[in-house]
Amino acid sequence: MTSVISGRVLVAGGYGAVGSAVSAALGEWLPGRVVPGGRNAERAREHGGVRVDVTDPGGFRRVLEELGDVAAVVLCVEPPDVGIARACLENGVHLVDVGATPKLVRAVSGLHGKASAAGATGVLSVGVAPGLTNLLARRAHEAVGGAERLDLTVLLGSGERHGGDAVRWTVEGLAEPATARARRAFLPGHGTRTAHPFPFSDQHTLPHTLGVPDVTTRLCLDSRPLTAALFALRRAARTPSARRLLTAAFQRVHLGGDSFAIRADARNADRTSSHALTGNGQSRVTGLVAAHVTRALMAGTLPPGVHHIEELPSLAGLLETLAAEEAVALHPGS
Ligand SMILES: NC(=O)c1ccc[n+]([C@@H]2O[C@H](COP(=O)([O-])OP(=O)(O)OC[C@H]3O[C@@H](n4cnc5c(N)ncnc54)[C@H](OP(=O)(O)O)[C@@H]3O)[C@@H](O)[C@H]2O)c1
Repeated sequence: MTSVISGRVLVAGGYGAVGSAVSAALGEWLPGRVVPGGRNAERAREHGGVRVDVTDPGGFRRVLEELGDVAAVVLCVEPPDVGIARACLENGVHLVDVGATPKLVRAVSGLHGKASAAGATGVLSVGVAPGLTNLLARRAHEAVGGAERLDLTVLLGSGERHGGDAVRWTVEGLAEPATARARRAFLPGHGTRTAHPFPFSDQHTLPHTLGVPDVTTRLCLDSRPLTAALFALRRAARTPSARRLLTAAFQRVHLGGDSFAIRADARNADRTSSHALTGNGQSRVTGLVAAHVTRALMAGTLPPGVHHIEELPSLAGLLETLAAEEAVALHPGS
């Protein structure tokens, strides 16, 4: 795929767990055109990048002006609000966002009109969950001729060294009240597991993008005892001090492996379909998904406006591309 859009790609959070995979893959495809960014000026310089802070949209705009030729920003760290997305999309800078928080994802979707007017493309639901879950959901939905219900199950490896920002996000999610019941699902390589409702953004997006009225995403870890411990702490996680303790604990405990699995189950009356996928290193695979999306963007294959990954026809083959690269294994429909 050749790049028709000139200019550089700024990867915010570009030397974190997800961002370093994005910077490495894009560095091969767009040599000399990738700029990793983060708050620590020294670490950013060591990676050939610049200091940026996603909590400061004004400062972020100045960095874009100083760099002068940034065509796209890949957000690999969660900003507090829509300010960074606005600084990019309203000024014609494309955006790829790995964010998973429903409120923020919804707010960035709301910039569709302004992005289109500025000729900029924003891609949301990029990563494993959301991301690959959205693509699997679309397949299961189509296989039943339009689902009336979708159940998504995510299994994460508790032995993986997840990045600090991802651990903070998970502990914040734990504090949210559950809106559905736990459910048992078979996950290739892991057997039948109990997964618990968890606030991934995909379940809020898919009712709009696919028109499926009822979508729930659930989470479990590869370690059964850690899954039980995590969800037993749901109530305790409601206070900020407990969340700080839990975040510190989860950054230290590495029981289990680094494999992950996701599954989408669709139902339409008595028709059912399930599609699953497995892989190793969810941070690395999230980064690879973001790198592929950015490559497609720079090749000029994505339309202006803000879109979710499952809405973009030129990314429909991404699951097969990742399988061919042996980043994931597909376990197609039953
Ligand atoms: N869609 C998905 O499937 C998926 C999967 C995994 C993770 N994620 C999301 O990806 C994000 C990153 O996760 P991660 O595991 O890579 O975290 P991480 O390893 O902690 O990396 C975060 C990076 O961002 C930088 N950073 C932190 N705060 C910043 C700020 N205010 N401004 C600019 N840079 C900042 C950090 O460097 P400095 O400390 O030097 O700033 C670090 O390099 C999280 O928001 C997570 O929810 C999504």
